[in-house]
Amino acid sequence: MANRGGFTNKLGFILAAAGSAVGLGNIWKFPYEVGSGGGAAFVIMYLFFCFILCFPVMVTEIAIGRKTQKNPVGAFKALGFKNWAFLGILGIFCGVLILSFYNVIAGWAFGYFFEMLSANFIDNGKEFGEYTSDIVKVGGYSIVFMLATAFVVVRGVSGGIEKLARILMPTLVIMILGLMAYAFTLDNAMEGVKYYLIPNIDNINANSIGGALRQAFFSLSLGMGALITYGSYVGRKDNIVSSAVYITLTDVGIAFIAGLMIFPLVAFNTGGNMTDEVLSSINGPSLIFITLPGVFENIGDLGVLVGSVFFLLLSFAALTSTVSLLEVPVAYVVDEFGVRRKKAVVIVASIIFLLGLPCLFSGGYSAFFTNFFTIPFGSDTPASSDFLSLAASIADTLLLLGGTLIVIFAGYVWKKHNLNSEISSGYEGYDKSIAKILINVGVTIVCPILLFVLFVVVVMNNFFGIDLINLLFR
Ligand code: PFF
Repeated sequence: MANRGGFTNKLGFILAAAGSAVGLGNIWKFPYEVGSGGGAAFVIMYLFFCFILCFPVMVTEIAIGRKTQKNPVGAFKALGFKNWAFLGILGIFCGVLILSFYNVIAGWAFGYFFEMLSANFIDNGKEFGEYTSDIVKVGGYSIVFMLATAFVVVRGVSGGIEKLARILMPTLVIMILGLMAYAFTLDNAMEGVKYYLIPNIDNINANSIGGALRQAFFSLSLGMGALITYGSYVGRKDNIVSSAVYITLTDVGIAFIAGLMIFPLVAFNTGGNMTDEVLSSINGPSLIFITLPGVFENIGDLGVLVGSVFFLLLSFAALTSTVSLLEVPVAYVVDEFGVRRKKAVVIVASIIFLLGLPCLFSGGYSAFFTNFFTIPFGSDTPASSDFLSLAASIADTLLLLGGTLIVIFAGYVWKKHNLNSEISSGYEGYDKSIAKILINVGVTIVCPILLFVLFVVVVMNNFFGIDLINLLFR
């Protein structure tokens, strides 16, 4: 077998996996999900999901990857369960789907960096619509972004993916802390923080519970075998459990700090008026792409600097995630079809870019893709959805399905003693640890049951507009 390469050490793996986790999901999605999903009540649920439900999934994915040293499809085959290879295929499909729309949003963010530099603050919906429908511009940015992603992945695991993460992750932390510190100096900052941190139980419904779980899976890059793939480049002496703890803490920490940066900025702009009505108008992409640029314009001289740093930060975060999304199908093609990495990257990246065209066109360029589907989002009114939002919603839901099936596989098919024996390599005290209990009870009872129930809640809510939580408990 050809040498697949690997991470140089545990830190390299943690940084790369945290790089995969920290992305648009943390800085773009998390704050508006919190805003619309009940403030701190949402944050508490989110933390529970990350540490209780997602943790066993993460450890399982890494363990399967390290045990087999294979891509998600090859991994199930190598364990001797050919019938489960469909789960790997589902993961690869998900990765392709996510990258196809993620690259478009990453391209928007990257383009905004240049708009901010030239002091062009796109701060109303019309201008944003004009920006996303300018197909030459946004198309160009998304090509550049895909090329950058491909350039990194071609260089391999340690020379490309790990090296990028070693440079960008610390940079990103410095940038986000700097921006947060600045946001705290603005008028009404505390009103923003209060809104972010005081729970509002009334806003909890199927939409927010499902939203928190989907967000946890998406943000931690779980459910599609990204961590099976990264895990396949991890050494036997490395401790999987502590790695998973660091990855989760970094991801959750950065999402939390992103909220601490963004809500003071919003509060500055609304003069401290943080009612739900005000906040509902900054749902979705408009928070990052319309509201924040407006804030940057209003803060005066420093606006160009703060705005540019913000969008560069967003682009960096996105890049360490897009490389992981591309690596999954690339590893599959390299392992299973014996294609050389370089060729695999060119083929896979081109296909994904082409598949992403409908998403690119759904920003206003094509009326067909822009008003693609009427989907009963949430429990209230049906909303029309563009192709990109629909793709994102389907992908989120599939990640949940993938995660549920992975734990069922680990608990009942591969069996927990095999999982445990893989985890204990690199972790001497594992047998007597709390982690073992959490993981074992997790993969056999807690995760299969709760994830399955929540998966049903999410599907009913997202695709049929039925709020099971309200129906059953209120
Ligand atoms: N975790 C990334 C984010 O939060 O932006 C998105 C992502 C990357 C999801 C890689 C899934 C994945 F495999």
